[in-house]
Amino acid sequence: MRNFTIIIKVLLFSFTILSCSPGEKENTFEKKADKLLQKMTLDEKIGQLVQKNGGSFSDSLVKAGGIGSVLNEISVERQNHIQRIAMEDSRLGIPILFARDVIHGFNTIMPIPLAQAATWNPALIEQGARVAATEAASSGIKWTFSPMIDITRDPRWGRIAECLGEDSYLTSEMGAAMVRGYQGDKLSDKTSIAACVKHFAAYGWAEGGRDYNTANIPENDLRDIVLPPFKRCAAEGALSFMTSFNDINGVPATGNEFLVKDILRNEWDYTGMVVSDWVSIIQMVTHGFAPDEKASALLAMNATVDMEMASTSYETYLKELLDEGSISQKQIDNAVRRILTVKYKLGLFESPYTNPDDFPEPLNNEHLAVSKKAAIESAVLLKNDGILPVSEKIKTVAVIGPLADAPHDQLGTWIFDGSKNNSVTPLESLSEKAKSNGITLLYERGLKISRSKEISFPEKVKSISKQADLIILFLGEESILSGESHCRADIDLPGAQEELVNMVTASGKPVIAVFMAGRPLTVENVIEKTNAALYAWHPGTMAGPALTDLLWGAVSPSGKLPVTFPRHVGQIPIYYSHRTTGKPATNETWEHIDDIPVEAPQLSIGNTSHYLDYGFEPMFPFGYGLSYTTFEYQSIETDKTAYSATDTIQVSVKLINTGNYNAAEVVQLYVHDKVASRAPAVKQLKGFKKVFLKQGEKKTVIFNLPVSSLGFHNLAMKYMVEPGEFEIMAGGSSDTTLETGIVIEN
Ligand code: BGC
Repeated sequence: MRNFTIIIKVLLFSFTILSCSPGEKENTFEKKADKLLQKMTLDEKIGQLVQKNGGSFSDSLVKAGGIGSVLNEISVERQNHIQRIAMEDSRLGIPILFARDVIHGFNTIMPIPLAQAATWNPALIEQGARVAATEAASSGIKWTFSPMIDITRDPRWGRIAECLGEDSYLTSEMGAAMVRGYQGDKLSDKTSIAACVKHFAAYGWAEGGRDYNTANIPENDLRDIVLPPFKRCAAEGALSFMTSFNDINGVPATGNEFLVKDILRNEWDYTGMVVSDWVSIIQMVTHGFAPDEKASALLAMNATVDMEMASTSYETYLKELLDEGSISQKQIDNAVRRILTVKYKLGLFESPYTNPDDFPEPLNNEHLAVSKKAAIESAVLLKNDGILPVSEKIKTVAVIGPLADAPHDQLGTWIFDGSKNNSVTPLESLSEKAKSNGITLLYERGLKISRSKEISFPEKVKSISKQADLIILFLGEESILSGESHCRADIDLPGAQEELVNMVTASGKPVIAVFMAGRPLTVENVIEKTNAALYAWHPGTMAGPALTDLLWGAVSPSGKLPVTFPRHVGQIPIYYSHRTTGKPATNETWEHIDDIPVEAPQLSIGNTSHYLDYGFEPMFPFGYGLSYTTFEYQSIETDKTAYSATDTIQVSVKLINTGNYNAAEVVQLYVHDKVASRAPAVKQLKGFKKVFLKQGEKKTVIFNLPVSSLGFHNLAMKYMVEPGEFEIMAGGSSDTTLETGIVIEN
């Protein structure tokens, strides 16, 4: 009878949930949280705001309800032990939320996030995040600190590897896809994990690309460039946000009321939870923004940061701050309610424990296939004189370079739970290919690691280069040269790699360079010496099979750069969406350093904005990427020529695959506001679609572009679409010239 009553209750509960609208459901979870809140003591409430690092706490603290979340506890046995204490021995039985940095895969490692952005394929990225969530959940992780959607325009910054590039729109779409992938169709599903969008905000705007550094950014740019991906992910239902380490115009993000309370909570109505970054609350003391830890706890609380990661200022000082009236009971209650609501949404109260047997095996074929597809679609073909795809006639191939067989480094940064033992390296896959195709494969690493200053076995490098019909060079950076706090002032190839390139190219044999790196590298010199260049980033577990398929033409490259590649580090910041300036450079006005006459007079007439030595153009523009086939963009048309503020512009772009391969193309849509009350960018990405065209196939790609998306924050900080003329452009790269014009009327 008791069981029967329980079944009826569960059915009624499920029916109530299923028959609710999303808003009502939200209320249901909040109401539950509220009900529980009423039973909680102050200590138990503060306990929910505490996140401890695995291993750094006692069972008795869990029993007392002193912990809300644990990060980095990865033993399922230990998690279940902790959870049992929380559920069965603590007074109220509130589950612990286990968290981890699952950044680009869990056991099956996907390409680094920057590479994933290069796929321009949100559906694929969503699948990748789904795989990561399923594997992480099978290890008891219910909360990942991803996606990282910091916009950056500085490849020196080590964390560029973790972000989705320089563009606000691309980052918004890819970030939202990751949120969908992690959180799944149903939050309470056992494979769903909470996403955490980070780092709020402007972390990627660090001065000089030095990690943790100051971000000086005008509020307009903050709102127009940095914040839109966060707003987009909040709208996608991301359950949590993480504040950033940096200060923004002098105010550390973790104590930034304007950012977290005013914008996120009040303007955007965000009801999810906000966690600090690792000890970023007490770092406000180091910033010189708070005199002591108690003051930093107050600042974070006032900014509405709900949970403190790793440091202990909340558990030590919140009670005192409440007693003396510096904070209110309501502030604490709001934070607790937001955290409990997430736990209810994830279904943790009903299913707090993990049984790995309930999940598919990690690293299964399906998961590996997603990783391989992502690696294929993220590789960007930068140059090809026709050597690629490799011809069947090639019978002797020399594979050379420190990244050809680097199972750890191909995985990239932030791979806590990935293992090099599961990596398939290019050398392994190419050897297999060679075996089955009657190809002789010669191999020499050339450098022990990417940073080695000496070439190992130079004679062998020379001799196999001479013997080969084709040389494939695997160059780049080890994974540890990018990632958190791993910034570089010089972004050339490290070590003696250029020397290795020279040694190899001296053979006169055709050379293909494959780059594996966590950032854009300044490799113009190297690319000039090679016949083809493929940028593979750090491609993850399946680097080998993916690159072999690409090189031998089983599939055509379709990746496009999510970030501008500078020719020289001194050009940074260099990005496609820059303003025109009053004196824009052209090839005609670029006064090259070698052409300046001796003792030439300094004039102010006819000058333009460029460098004497490196001009004004990047090595490769944003959105760039070649294919084995060719695409001809035939026309761009809009459904009307004049629109009102509430209209949607229908843009049709016709393209045809004019080459000899079936291939995918990323059709990109850019807009230029010709005159505005704040000087506009030369163009801004407003849409993209990845389409597949067979040889000779024609397609018309339609974009529906709301006029409301063409605005910006004016000087009064009001979002406006100003009437006037706009150019609409489409193409396979940001340097497209195919355009049409429209007018937005008053
Ligand atoms: C990073 C975060 C990360 C956290 C927890 C910090 O150092 O900035 O991105 O989620 O550590 O590992």
